[in-house]
Amino acid sequence: MWSFIREVEPRGFLAARENGELLGYAIYVPSLKRVQRAAIMRGAIVRWALAALRGGFGIRLRAIPNILLNKLLFVRSGSRYRSRGDAQLLNLAVDPAAQGRGVATALVSAGLLVMRDLGLAEVRLEVRPWNRGALRLYEKTGWREVGRTRDLEGEWVVMVANP
Ligand SMILES: CC(C)(COP(=O)(O)OP(=O)(O)OC[C@H]1O[C@@H](n2cnc3c(N)ncnc32)[C@H](O)[C@@H]1OP(=O)(O)O)[C@@H](O)C(=O)NCCC(=O)NCCS
Repeated sequence: MWSFIREVEPRGFLAARENGELLGYAIYVPSLKRVQRAAIMRGAIVRWALAALRGGFGIRLRAIPNILLNKLLFVRSGSRYRSRGDAQLLNLAVDPAAQGRGVATALVSAGLLVMRDLGLAEVRLEVRPWNRGALRLYEKTGWREVGRTRDLEGEWVVMVANP
């Protein structure tokens, strides 16, 4: 799925490396709708669904309805609490061995600069309320909470930043 998104929207894919080793990555997409449209038009959604049904991605069959419902809720709530555009910070992770050294701060800030260079005025993200470390990181890098949404696993804090 990430390689598909990278094909459609390569500009927000950021990797932090040290001596050739990957320390972390951030995936920003300038337009969520463009990715969703491409996934439908190019048949990627059907391919992912079939791969999941065949046991790909390590997903158990009985978990699939919940995953699909969560994705649907994500798509439905994707435009809430936005005032401009549909840019999104989709994913962020730092290798546990490299955490606490400012890698995520650098990735999030660099991504916001890329979004600004693209002329985007607002970026959105969702984070679980229990993810205290991530919440503090986002607050420190200029994001603010604008609302909450839910899926089957619970609540999401919706945050936006103006690059
Ligand atoms: C959240 C995550 C990306 C932070 O990466 P990191 O490189 O360690 O973050 P940084 O070193 O840049 O820390 C920046 C700030 O975030 C906050 N923070 C990060 N990790 C924290 C933790 N475990 N507990 C409390 N605060 C934390 C701190 O305020 C920190 O600033 P400070 O050190 O000046 O106080 C990393 O812990 C991770 O990959 N977690 C798992 C994946 C995840 O939760 N991704 C976010 C999904 S929305």
